[in-house]
Amino acid sequence: MIRQFDGLVIQFQQRVMPFSILHSLFSICILYLMVQPPIMQGIIHLEGIRKNYFLGKQVIEVLKGITLDIFKNEYVALMGPSGSGKSTLMNILGCLDTPTGGRYVLNNQDVSKMVDNSLAEVRNTEIGFVFQQFNLLPRLTAAENVALPLVYAGVPKKKRMERALHVLELVNLADRSHHKPNELSGGQNQRVAIARALVNDPAMILADEPTGNLDTKTSYEIMDIFGRIHEGGNTVILVTHEEDIANHAHRIIRLRDGVIETDKRREMAIPRAH
Ligand SMILES: Nc1ncnc2c1ncn2[C@@H]1O[C@H](COP(=O)(O)OP(=O)(O)O)[C@@H](O)[C@H]1O
Ligand SMILES: [Mg+2]
Repeated sequence: MIRQFDGLVIQFQQRVMPFSILHSLFSICILYLMVQPPIMQGIIHLEGIRKNYFLGKQVIEVLKGITLDIFKNEYVALMGPSGSGKSTLMNILGCLDTPTGGRYVLNNQDVSKMVDNSLAEVRNTEIGFVFQQFNLLPRLTAAENVALPLVYAGVPKKKRMERALHVLELVNLADRSHHKPNELSGGQNQRVAIARALVNDPAMILADEPTGNLDTKTSYEIMDIFGRIHEGGNTVILVTHEEDIANHAHRIIRLRDGVIETDKRREMAIPRAH
């Protein structure tokens, strides 16, 4: 009788216990998946990005391992002292330069190992870049400057001009479309440059100190345009060393000596003056 009972216990341990252990493990897994949010990967995903410059035998380590995700429709300000690597990082984000090491995934494409032609393609379709110096061609009108990226994209002339006029309207410059850069103010030229960055309908806008050459009032006008671009659903990343400019953004990332010092999201942006 006792033997029989022992047998039953052994059977119970052999058959039922493994099942109950499996059942518990299964429940734990389900619970974990319910509690744990899915791992989100941003429109920009950087993993240990490094950038070295070589001057003769000297190696200058500019970016020393940047790991970062930026999500669709974020509005990010990149800050930090002069020489901390902001422009170097922006050039990598904008596919104008490639990292020495690490991984950069842009919109699900690993761009860190891409060669020049493919990088140019990504740049043309995914990214609008705005520089401090505007970088407009002096002989071309505002509309022609804005339409230039569409020439590279092989868009027919009539379509190019229609699209250029449309984005010039977005930056309130439709009435200056036939003016050349030297016939426009600094703020107007920067608006032309922003229109050029928007003309391809890119996934994100990158701007490296876009208000660096402008007076305060004009800077605010430019920030108002970036605010509207962001509200329109675009991802905006801009470099600035001015706190009040950075306060327009929802997230502030500070670089120091080639590493991220702080990365903070704000609850609410300061309302913009209209
Ligand atoms: N092409 C280059 N060759 C060598 N050093 C460079 C080059 N570009 C930038 N650097 C150096 O990298 C550091 C970071 O530069 P940069 O990214 O322009 O900083 P930031 O935009 O924050 O002022 C600086 O010390 C700069 O001198
Ligand atoms: Mg810079």
